[in-house]
Amino acid sequence: MLCIATLAATNLRAADDVLIADFEGPDYRAWKVTGEAFGPGPARGTLPGQMQVDGFKGKGLVNSFYKGDGSTGTLTSPEFKIERQFISFLIGGGQDPEKTCMNLLIDGKAVRNATGPNNKPGGTEALAPASWDVGEFAGQSAVIQILDQATGGWGHINVDQIVQTDRKPPGVIANVTREITLEKRYLNLPVKNGGPKRQMSVAIEGQPPRNFEIELADGEPDWWAFMDSAQFKGKIAVLKVDKLPEDSAGLKAIDQSDELKNSDTLYHEKLRPQFHFSPQRGWNNDPNGLVFYRGEYHLFFQHNPYGWSWGNMHWGHAVSTDLVHWKELPVALYPDQHGTMFSGSAVVDWNNTAGLQTGEEKVLVCIFTAAGNPFTQGIAYSNDRGRTWSKYENNPVLPHIIGANRDPKVIWYAPDKKWVMALYLDGSDYALFSSKDLKKWERMSNVAIPGTSECPEFFEIAVDGNQQNTRWVFYGGNGRYLVGKFDGQTFTPESGPHTLHHGNCWYASQTFTDIPAEDGRRILIPWGQMATPGMPFNQMMGVPVELTLRTTDEGPRLLANPVKEHASLRAITHTIKPQPLNPGDNPLAAIKGELLDLTADIVIGDAAEVGFNIRGATVSYDAKKQELSCKGKKAALKPVDGKIRLRLMVDRTSIDIFGNDGRLYMPMGVIVPQDNLSLEVYAKGGSAKINALEVHELKSAWNSNLYQLRD
Ligand code: FRU
Repeated sequence: MLCIATLAATNLRAADDVLIADFEGPDYRAWKVTGEAFGPGPARGTLPGQMQVDGFKGKGLVNSFYKGDGSTGTLTSPEFKIERQFISFLIGGGQDPEKTCMNLLIDGKAVRNATGPNNKPGGTEALAPASWDVGEFAGQSAVIQILDQATGGWGHINVDQIVQTDRKPPGVIANVTREITLEKRYLNLPVKNGGPKRQMSVAIEGQPPRNFEIELADGEPDWWAFMDSAQFKGKIAVLKVDKLPEDSAGLKAIDQSDELKNSDTLYHEKLRPQFHFSPQRGWNNDPNGLVFYRGEYHLFFQHNPYGWSWGNMHWGHAVSTDLVHWKELPVALYPDQHGTMFSGSAVVDWNNTAGLQTGEEKVLVCIFTAAGNPFTQGIAYSNDRGRTWSKYENNPVLPHIIGANRDPKVIWYAPDKKWVMALYLDGSDYALFSSKDLKKWERMSNVAIPGTSECPEFFEIAVDGNQQNTRWVFYGGNGRYLVGKFDGQTFTPESGPHTLHHGNCWYASQTFTDIPAEDGRRILIPWGQMATPGMPFNQMMGVPVELTLRTTDEGPRLLANPVKEHASLRAITHTIKPQPLNPGDNPLAAIKGELLDLTADIVIGDAAEVGFNIRGATVSYDAKKQELSCKGKKAALKPVDGKIRLRLMVDRTSIDIFGNDGRLYMPMGVIVPQDNLSLEVYAKGGSAKINALEVHELKSAWNSNLYQLRD
């Protein structure tokens, strides 16, 4: 690149580009700045509070998000002479042609204008190439003016790499299509995380088109998303992308295969949790539709099959016979005309109350939120043990009530032979509805849980295991729960809200419906809110835990313990003999391990602190404060008879901590260094005693063949 000053000498080589600005310096040089939005100089990428900014060149760029969207300002170039056919640049941010834009001014008049792509919430902070044909102004003096006069959402503009050039920069083509005859199981789509978001549709003969947003990689992808097209073999799919640079390889690169791309590393990727469920590819958040039917636990989940971040909500699906080994099945619910598929629940309709059963097999029914405009509740059903799903033709079954009402949790209320739905309304308000057939719902009563919102869970549970003495628990997305009574119409809280967990990665949990009475457990799975950077998937599910309601000195409280099935992953057990634990001692020094399940019973004695260093992560107990802490999270844990009991389950991106047999529940997202396999148990400021200590090295749940479908 040449700078303007050297132009005269090189004018003869007309093909050379002329750099107007690359914003690599510490300040804006001769550009004139007004207002605050453009900051003291070019930004070095993303600014505080901003989504990831990508697509700029080098290290610096114009980014008017300085002090957020609220700030305004202008940035004006020195005058320059137009001496090439095109001015090319990279641009992103808001889409307002008057308020968040870049203008080419000639004689003070805007003769060209460009904006970023965003005019609604969501969107992308990626800069994309754009250009103006300025041939008609050859020889004239011009000025570039970058404006940020907007203060609301997308009230900023990003610009970089402004160049005069004679080579026509690649244009952007609208509605690019490609036809593919589906021959193999997977249609593979290249994804570049943080790239420009494209609207894409795949229309398969005879099917409603599948529409989604995708950061389709123009060049080398970060990872490959897939669409399972097994059931459409031989059919033609028409792929359409709303906009693509004409030199993009994105659409051409889409290919088909019978094996998942990179299947050799599937489930062995560096940050793949080895005993927490995560989707093969793409994003997950909430668990949905937890239901048990004929030997299988079904786990549906909020899923973006085509992106590493939240979006395009589908219901992904996996099954397990033991809550430990999971097999991912094809997507169960696709977005439809009512919206994308937000969270909800599932039931077995044992008595065919909805009339949707077609054969011998009992029908499974999912009750979900369609997040359209507005949000409504709908149902879908399966007559083949969850393998294929149909939407009910008269959806929605519950029309919009208020705001972004969502996340229906449905249970069977046997005394009245009716279904009961807990639904999130708004604020911290929830409501209960009833139905005889899952299709028509009547509002019964309201529930408010201060300090929580979204994802209601509502169930009956025995107090201290006594089936004659039960209570009802109602909780929201963060697990804040009320304990009370339910008469079939109204939930009457007796205590709460209480805190269910003290971790940093737990949200939007659900419990299973239809667990057989002879088992009788209340089993919960939370979303494990933990990012997995650099992986072709993102997030995970928490360890399935059994909830019990126990009388404590503070009243009835929920306890959470890993389901007993988890013990099947124990491969090698190291048993440490009971012994004193003095400062400096570490009876675990000789043990190394990656995936661990550690159980400890420790007499605190006169130690000021006892704790563990697990592969570099510390879990410590302050004897005076009677408090356990890990990575800045703290929770009370009272010794019982001078002892504390701990269970620590260590996976690649988490440590699940259980104290005093589930009284303390603390799932922690932690990425421990891969090469650190060391373990330490310690006492400080006095002596403690190890009463019992076992370290179980675990197998990966993905390695074994234990999972067998009983098909
Ligand atoms: C909770 C939540 C739900 C919603 C879903 C959307 O994490 O916001 O309320 O249904 O995620 O993915």
